[in-house]
Amino acid sequence: MRIIKVKNYEEMSKKAADIIAAQILLDPGTVLGLATGSTPIGTYDRLVELNKNGDIDFSRVTTINLDEYCDLEPTHEQSYRYFMNKHLLTRVNINLENTHVPNGKARDTDAECRRYDDLIEKAGGIDLQLLGIGHNGHIGFNEPSDEFVPGTHCVKLTESTINANSRFFNSIDEVPKRAITMGIRAIIQAKRALLIASGEDKKEILKKALFGPVTPQVPASILQLHRDLIVVTPLDI
Ligand code: F6R
Repeated sequence: MRIIKVKNYEEMSKKAADIIAAQILLDPGTVLGLATGSTPIGTYDRLVELNKNGDIDFSRVTTINLDEYCDLEPTHEQSYRYFMNKHLLTRVNINLENTHVPNGKARDTDAECRRYDDLIEKAGGIDLQLLGIGHNGHIGFNEPSDEFVPGTHCVKLTESTINANSRFFNSIDEVPKRAITMGIRAIIQAKRALLIASGEDKKEILKKALFGPVTPQVPASILQLHRDLIVVTPLDI
């Protein structure tokens, strides 16, 4: 594991974007695994800048996102597809057909999970997986549990997640109750994993994930076993 200590959120975003940019430069047809949330927004802004400056070309890049809420239209402002389009995908010269987010509206969620795993396999796996970490140690929507779930699967969101998310919706009834998430296998098999975390509120869980026991109770702890994990953080861990 390599830990790159940076000064602040801006520097973290710049460094993470530089690592992703280097990946694209070395392999223009690279497969990027991407995350949503507040942490990667600065990284995406910087990637857009690098693309606009002509430093990196997304035309042959494929992206595969970690997760999506069930039952939200992709055009819904809280859907992860909407987030990705807004913060990165419609701002760079990527072919949108090569960008993938689980289909939260699929009628048969099991079939959708299988389709997503097939898609990852057909793409040859993920070359570089960008990750954030939840306060409970989740990666994607792999929540603390008694076991690591290998494949893409459907998760029931906990009461606390539903309550936390309700601030983004008109009422708590509109908050999705389920999500589809990539499993641990595709994340751990990614050729490189890039974990970014900032904010004092993430310090304890980041320490636990990187230096505590490897346990499905802290899903991100599995990253200790990753062959090429880079952590970029301003946190003193
Ligand atoms: C979302 C995802 C989540 C987030 C995590 C941290 O695609 O993968 O695991 O990375 O919830 O979210 P933020 O960055 O908002 O603190």
